[in-house]
Amino acid sequence: MSIHKIALLDGDGIGPEIMAEAVKILNLVAERNQVDFELESGAFGATAYFSHGNSFPDETKALCDSADAILKGPIGLSHEESKKIPVDMQPERGALLPLRRRYDTFANFRPVYLPKDIAHFSPLKAEVIGDGIDFIIIRELVGGLYFGNKETGVTESGKRFVTESLEYDEDQIARIARVAFETAQKRQGVLHNIHKSNVLKSSVLWNEVMEEVGRDFPDVQIKHILVDAAATYLCLNPRQFDVMVMENMFGDILSDQGGGILGSLGLMPSACMGPEKAYYEPSHGSAPDIAGQKIANPYSMIGSVAMMLEMSFGMDSEARNVWQAMQSVFAQGFSTPDLSKPGSDVKMISTDGFGDLVAEELSKL
Ligand code: NAD
Ligand code: IPM
Ligand code: MN
Repeated sequence: MSIHKIALLDGDGIGPEIMAEAVKILNLVAERNQVDFELESGAFGATAYFSHGNSFPDETKALCDSADAILKGPIGLSHEESKKIPVDMQPERGALLPLRRRYDTFANFRPVYLPKDIAHFSPLKAEVIGDGIDFIIIRELVGGLYFGNKETGVTESGKRFVTESLEYDEDQIARIARVAFETAQKRQGVLHNIHKSNVLKSSVLWNEVMEEVGRDFPDVQIKHILVDAAATYLCLNPRQFDVMVMENMFGDILSDQGGGILGSLGLMPSACMGPEKAYYEPSHGSAPDIAGQKIANPYSMIGSVAMMLEMSFGMDSEARNVWQAMQSVFAQGFSTPDLSKPGSDVKMISTDGFGDLVAEELSKL
């Protein structure tokens, strides 16, 4: 029997609620496939700051170091609550970015997927959404503005200032480019490169390296689009996209727009791949506005499990089963409230209700 150790980081807000549903599915997958998932939880995020004085405690680092993969719930507090934690120890800067840096998880896969049967969840017009959408945003995750040099201070004339730099070197760009071209090669053979080279020098280098790497992939067509225009095309014609690649900050923003196109951020799982370790998390945050109400959509968290099964454990067919089980739940007219429009005939269910139905559907496959 193969054994996989998985570190579970529940996080904050809706994190524990949606993690519970992911664990339900992991346990079922273990039972069905005769694999042993050793699940161990670690404190991480604002909750960890209040309990341990550190949002990424040493024992959690040790747990993650020893795990084969990490499943992470969203972290963070509301704007007001965040002020209770010193800026550098807030869970985004104090836990999440250090986690990404620790495992060098440079390649972030954020699928924007809405099959035909649930295309009506999209707020876009039926003629725009058509038979649904299926594209993937590949976001560089450990460079750019997020990890560049930062300086804050006061000028000689007494004005507060801040500088943060958008930094990339050619190796960082080349490695994400290769991941993007390889992904495009396996899909439709078209790669949309999103940039801002009309202003940013970082994008000039980014595009140069993209084209250089592209020479090794003659079967992939590269199309360059400025990031501002890309934001518009995502609304007007999202079906033109198959694989999109972009730097860290652009990817943060456009991937949330992806969630908007689907109808909810609750439909956005993700995989964060490093050279040796990967971690999996929803693309969205801790949703403080709905935390504790048992109404969060656990699709993003269960979808992150499916990505883990495929990308870390090679369990491709079981991963497909998990996706299919979730689609079957929607196909029967059930959904959490984020996707249920007033007046529609959607049968509203709770977070754990969704998880139970997914487990039931998965058992049939
Ligand atoms: P958010 O993504 O938490 O929420 C935005 C909106 O989407 C809210 O209305 C929320 O209710 C809804 N939403 C998100 N996930 C949902 C789900 N699974 N089901 C149903 N509805 C869902 O963004 P925010 O409110 O701007 O940020 C809250 C906190 O999360 C902040 O502290 C932020 O820094 C943090 N954050 C963390 C991560 C992460 O851990 N990777 C990602 C994004 C934001
Ligand atoms: C995300 C989040 C993070 C990011 C924050 C919480 C640091 O928004 O994963 O998209 O900006 O990368
Ligand atoms: Mn984000």
